[in-house]
Amino acid sequence: MKAELLYEGKAKRVYKAEGKPGQLVLSYKNDATAFNGEKKASFTGKGRLNNEISSRIFPLLKENGIDSHFIERLNETEQLVHQTKIIPLEVVVRNLATGSITRRLGIEEKTAFTPPMIELFYKNDDLGDPLINDQHALFLSDVKVSELEEIKAKALLVNEQLRRIFDGVNVTLVDFKLEFGRLNDGSIVLADEISPDTCRLWDSGTQEKLDKDVFRQGTGDLLEVYQEILTRLEAVS
Ligand code: TMP
Repeated sequence: MKAELLYEGKAKRVYKAEGKPGQLVLSYKNDATAFNGEKKASFTGKGRLNNEISSRIFPLLKENGIDSHFIERLNETEQLVHQTKIIPLEVVVRNLATGSITRRLGIEEKTAFTPPMIELFYKNDDLGDPLINDQHALFLSDVKVSELEEIKAKALLVNEQLRRIFDGVNVTLVDFKLEFGRLNDGSIVLADEISPDTCRLWDSGTQEKLDKDVFRQGTGDLLEVYQEILTRLEAVS
């Protein structure tokens, strides 16, 4: 199914899909990185867990009218997606304050954001993915003003749906990062992945962290908590 390797990122490899023009194979790696690649480790099984989790979430979003690049899961670590040109913006939605926003703006941990807070970061490893404003985003990408509004509205819709899905399995969606890509026809769809690498997920009862923060902070077993998220999603998808 895979042909030429097009791109290797920190968590995935991207291949052309053999005999399927306009489609790509995403291969999820076992590597975990944090702090812009400064902290690194490999966890056998992480690629499978994130592939399986992402492959459950995209169809759940689709059922609720949110299109993405996702086509199908191919095997344990790979999924087939529509080829897009990734827009170099990381769109973060926050429901509760934690992570960089608490350090950057002195906001107290766990402060609720109503409405949810959207932040844009420039996807550029050399610059350490800096926080940017809308005008920077328009300058640094090819999106139009109306498209940036669309992206932000879509991110809020994704937040509503993800919150509903995770609330149903006793998980609080604290915050998450989305990426969008442009299809051949010029339209913009949700791309990349949605997994415990890209979301902060807390057990709603105990507040135990069930996401990559256990690796970032060295406070828990990454494979165990990712498996816990998959097990809970299996009950509803
Ligand atoms: P932050 O609090 O570190 O800015 O992270 C906000 C959200 O974005 C959190 O859910 C983790 C996710 N995230 C990524 O997916 N990739 C990244 O490179 C970073 C820094 C955060």
